[in-house]
Amino acid sequence: MMRKPIVAGNWKMNKTCAEAADLVSGIIRELAEVTHVDVVVCPPFTALRTVSEAISDTNIDLGAQDLHWEKRGAYTGEISSEMLRELFCHYVILGHSERRQYFGETSESVNRKVHAALEASLRPIVCVGERLEEREAGRTSEVVESHVRGSLAGLSKSQWLQVVVAYEPVWAIGTGRTASPEQAQEVHEFIRALIGEMSDSHVAEAVRIQYGGSIKPDNARELFAQPDIDGGLVGGASLEARSFAQIVRAAIPEGAQE
Ligand code: 13P
Repeated sequence: MMRKPIVAGNWKMNKTCAEAADLVSGIIRELAEVTHVDVVVCPPFTALRTVSEAISDTNIDLGAQDLHWEKRGAYTGEISSEMLRELFCHYVILGHSERRQYFGETSESVNRKVHAALEASLRPIVCVGERLEEREAGRTSEVVESHVRGSLAGLSKSQWLQVVVAYEPVWAIGTGRTASPEQAQEVHEFIRALIGEMSDSHVAEAVRIQYGGSIKPDNARELFAQPDIDGGLVGGASLEARSFAQIVRAAIPEGAQE
């Protein structure tokens, strides 16, 4: 099966509204013609409206970086799926390792959020990945399996088809230390097999699995060339239109005309 590549920029806690407007106009200029890759930008909550308005007539999609599982109520500081939908968000990053590490996110809370997102027709980009000490202790598969099974429990087949999984080894995030294409491919293949066990082989073939962790213009092509890597979740290099666009172009399938 031919899976359409998807490249998303996770801006994390960067960019004021004015800076976001600047960045997104650069991204639109660079990527207006690209149709063979799904392109998503995920600004902080405060810049969602600005970016949403800027991309309304383009191929670029909007994502948020988190949500709360309840629709509304006394949850100070939180944002609901309904609020995101109102701003034309189509994607939401869930379970990012920074949220797991600094804000007590667990696979159980991620799973509640995944279900809330799907109910609101938001596509979750669900992050999984091991820490350095876990990799060094030979526990990569165990940790990734527990993230995937826990975060993505209880999905119907049609719900699975809305999900994007992002494999982000924590030791590769913001460190300049990328997983080698072979290391990443090995885990992606493992995740796809797990999805097959949790759902079925048709679903496993269809679900897109992104790689994330120090993707740069000069390593993106090699990573995206791996059979089970269907694009990337880009942090630092997505904060600059030029480098983000180069990474998106590296995901255009061979032979596709843009
Ligand atoms: P970097 O690309 O900055 O390593 O960040 C990756 C990431 O965490 C994307 O979600």
